[in-house]
Amino acid sequence: MRIGILPAGQALFSFIVDVFRIDGAARLVGTVSVSGAKNSSLKLMAVALLATGTSTIHSVPNILDVTIMAELLRRLGCTVDYNPDTETIVIDVPAEIEHRADYDLVRRMRASIAVLGPLVARTGAADVALPGGDNIGSRGLDMHIAGLERMGAEVTSEHGYLVVHAPAEGLHGTHVYLDFPSVGATETLLMAAVTANGQTVIDNAAREPEIVDICEMLLKMGADIQGVGTSLLTVNGVSSLSPVEHTTVADRIVAATWAVAAVMTQGDITILNARPEHMALPLEKLTAAGATVESVDNGIRVHINRRPTAVDIVTLPYPGFPTDLQPQFIALNSVAEGSAMITENLFEARFRFVQELSRLGAEVRTDGHHALVRGKPLLSGAPVEATDIRAGAGLVLAGLVAEGATTVHGIEHIDRGYVGFEEQLIALGAPVSRNVINDLD
Ligand code: UD1
Repeated sequence: MRIGILPAGQALFSFIVDVFRIDGAARLVGTVSVSGAKNSSLKLMAVALLATGTSTIHSVPNILDVTIMAELLRRLGCTVDYNPDTETIVIDVPAEIEHRADYDLVRRMRASIAVLGPLVARTGAADVALPGGDNIGSRGLDMHIAGLERMGAEVTSEHGYLVVHAPAEGLHGTHVYLDFPSVGATETLLMAAVTANGQTVIDNAAREPEIVDICEMLLKMGADIQGVGTSLLTVNGVSSLSPVEHTTVADRIVAATWAVAAVMTQGDITILNARPEHMALPLEKLTAAGATVESVDNGIRVHINRRPTAVDIVTLPYPGFPTDLQPQFIALNSVAEGSAMITENLFEARFRFVQELSRLGAEVRTDGHHALVRGKPLLSGAPVEATDIRAGAGLVLAGLVAEGATTVHGIEHIDRGYVGFEEQLIALGAPVSRNVINDLD
């Protein structure tokens, strides 16, 4: 929102916002390139806190969340230098760091919670504001807290902050069995365990490629972790870690979003830097929908020359189907031949997106964790609102299979996850533009 000026010169709060306008249906053809994963880069920046000295991370996408995490690290005492052209971030961590993550930053990005483990490990304490983040339902921290407590920490909640104190002799190793393979809890406990006293076993750990990426950076830094990429991580604490240079894993969610775009628009897209081994199930689903997925030099090519067939999906922790692709696949099914059942097991509020998609004429009925989508040949353009990053991507894709103009509001969410989204869409032939409008008109 910006401040507008009335013709009479009178200042007034008005609702001047950026929107994406999509002028009708299009077939997307061409080549796109995928950056490093947002969900990995942010955590790798937190990992850097574990070693005094200068760490360098490459393939860090130029998105708002990286700016927020950089500011958070600066407030902890680090010197941070990000070059958006080379997508490289250099983080200089002093011997003594602060241990407080303020609400004004944490509320803007839930991933700020990634500093929790490193702060307790490095300083023996952490005051971290309870996070906000995406509007995708309740996202508890109970497993982070229970795990740290098992490692000897005392955890309380005071005035909206999580306050953690390690014992004087430091955290100690333990056996933690996670109720659910939470990405965030696995990361917190992993980062807390690498310099704890003795052995920590994280059982039922998350296995996402972004967790593997974090483990690989930690291993380079001198950590002792066994079982990387499995649900049983065994960490033998070491006395200290060294700064390193690391390159972020490619963003599998962004890559798969482009793959869905190719299939929905009956197009042909080559996705450079895509790692097909990290998106096996989504690509399998696209193949079942009728697409051809081929390996090419440093990426994949996805193409189809008919209307896709509807495909059922059930979201689950990796290697299950990612919840971060659920909205895009609902959008795909909304223009597919036949009907599909979508089951969401991770974030209850993610179906809020469905109401917006319905404004484009999609036929979707939800019941609890399930959504039944009946495909139709074409949607009908309308103004819609993105409620989170992936919902935003799903709505833009839907606009590309809609007759007439679609205006997507709330695109600040999309900007948090997709670098240069509209430039890449335009290069593929999409009739997309970023416009400034007065939302009250
Ligand atoms: C991360 C990703 C997000 C992705 C999600 C699942 C980042 C910045 N975000 O989120 O894009 O959708 O993984 O792949 O990496 N839960 C609890 N208690 C806990 C921890 C989690 O109840 O202590 C619940 C959450 O409320 C949620 C579910 O478990 O319903 C999944 O959470 P988790 O796997 O931790 O996801 P995030 O790390 O928040």
